Amino acid sequence: MNLLVTSRLQLRPLAGEDGDSYVALYGNVTVMRHVRPPLAEPEARRSFSEALRQQREVPPRRRWWTLQTPDGTETFGLAGLAYAGVGAELGILLRPAWQGRGLASEAVRALCAYAFREQALSSISARHGLDNRAAHRLFAHAGFEPAAAPPGERHWALAAPSPIAGGCSGGAANPLT
Ligand SMILES: CC(C)(COP(=O)(O)OP(=O)(O)OC[C@H]1O[C@@H](n2cnc3c(N)ncnc32)[C@H](O)[C@@H]1OP(=O)(O)O)[C@@H](O)C(=O)NCCC(=O)NCCS
Repeated sequence: MNLLVTSRLQLRPLAGEDGDSYVALYGNVTVMRHVRPPLAEPEARRSFSEALRQQREVPPRRRWWTLQTPDGTETFGLAGLAYAGVGAELGILLRPAWQGRGLASEAVRALCAYAFREQALSSISARHGLDNRAAHRLFAHAGFEPAAAPPGERHWALAAPSPIAGGCSGGAANPLT
């Protein structure tokens, strides 16, 4: 797993030092409003231990990145990929004070480019509830296409770019670039 750096953030592979920020995110009522019921601290600590264990699994089933300022001094979110065959589902959470600044868009762009380029994924999916406007706009503007979904959910899919078009990995045709 690599450290991914963009102009305004870095995605650092989740590590033992990230326990407190992980617990704070999963316990935050505002952040979890559209995701799942917030976790009480003991449950969040257990979930963090499991995430760390998954981080070491080979072949990977899940991988996690902590979202930080480029100098690594402030942690403001978490992104993850859950792998299934040649695809993966992307999830992302930001602390409320850091939302609405385009940081999730920048993180999604970097993570997709990395996953298509380095992990040879053929597609990346995402899902959220119908009333999650921020997630809807995030994935729509990142170039994801609507996909079939069960009632009450919205699903998205982003196909790997063709080498000619560039797409997520750097061409001009894809909104992720
Ligand atoms: C979804 C989430 C990651 C977006 O993070 P963010 O950093 O605010 O996203 P960005 O600033 O990159 O904005 C992405 C788009 O969402 C829009 N947006 C951001 N917050 C919004 C809000 N509260 N309501 C409506 N739209 C919103 C932005 O305007 C932007 O749309 P635009 O390109 O049309 O301007 C963040 O709201 C979050 O952590 N939510 C809780 C967890 C969650 O729902 N995760 C998604 C499921 S995996």
